Amino acid sequence: MNETMQAILERRSIRHYTEEPVSEDALSQIIEAGLWAPTARNAQEVKITVVRDPAWRAGFREAFEKWDGRANFKNYDFGCPVFLFLYGDRDFPYTEMDSGIVVENMALAAQSLGLGTVIIGCIRGFLRSEAGKPWREQLGMTEQDLFTVGLCIGHAAKPTKKQERKEGRVRYL
Ligand SMILES: Cc1cc2nc3c(=O)[nH]c(=O)nc-3n(C[C@H](O)[C@H](O)[C@H](O)COP(=O)(O)O)c2cc1C
Repeated sequence: MNETMQAILERRSIRHYTEEPVSEDALSQIIEAGLWAPTARNAQEVKITVVRDPAWRAGFREAFEKWDGRANFKNYDFGCPVFLFLYGDRDFPYTEMDSGIVVENMALAAQSLGLGTVIIGCIRGFLRSEAGKPWREQLGMTEQDLFTVGLCIGHAAKPTKKQERKEGRVRYL
């Protein structure tokens, strides 16, 4: 199996992280992988805000959990050392699809560098709501930007059990 296949097949969503920071070198390679993802019409509309700041993240978590209201909700970022927020033009028809491709490129790059990730969608409702407005502004998002997806990055503290893939999802005509 080549290294690309290995990264694809061995990547799991990591929900337990050590406190070890992610190096600037690894982070810049991961971001580079995101920026080189293909985009519809070569629009390159997906933008990324990188947040390490634990105090900011704690404030965001509190606001999100208050808005979400679910009791015992597991926090959105699992204490990972770096969190990426992805967003893009709300009127571009491929913003969400392009974000998905960008985020997976970054997840696979992280995997190839020995880092763990989990893609995060659960904060989407909050970041699109009125309550999310001050947080969007702090992230550098404009009114034209639509939050799409987040990504936790860090060193895995605990492996994740393999989720088997459903059968019968492919047809050959
Ligand atoms: C668009 C998207 C949103 C996701 N949102 C969350 C999330 O909010 N919280 C979470 O723990 N996992 C989230 N996940 C991770 C999935 O639960 C995970 O990919 C799936 O269970 C398969 O496990 P694996 O990634 O380990 O193969 C998300 C994945 C995708 C692709």
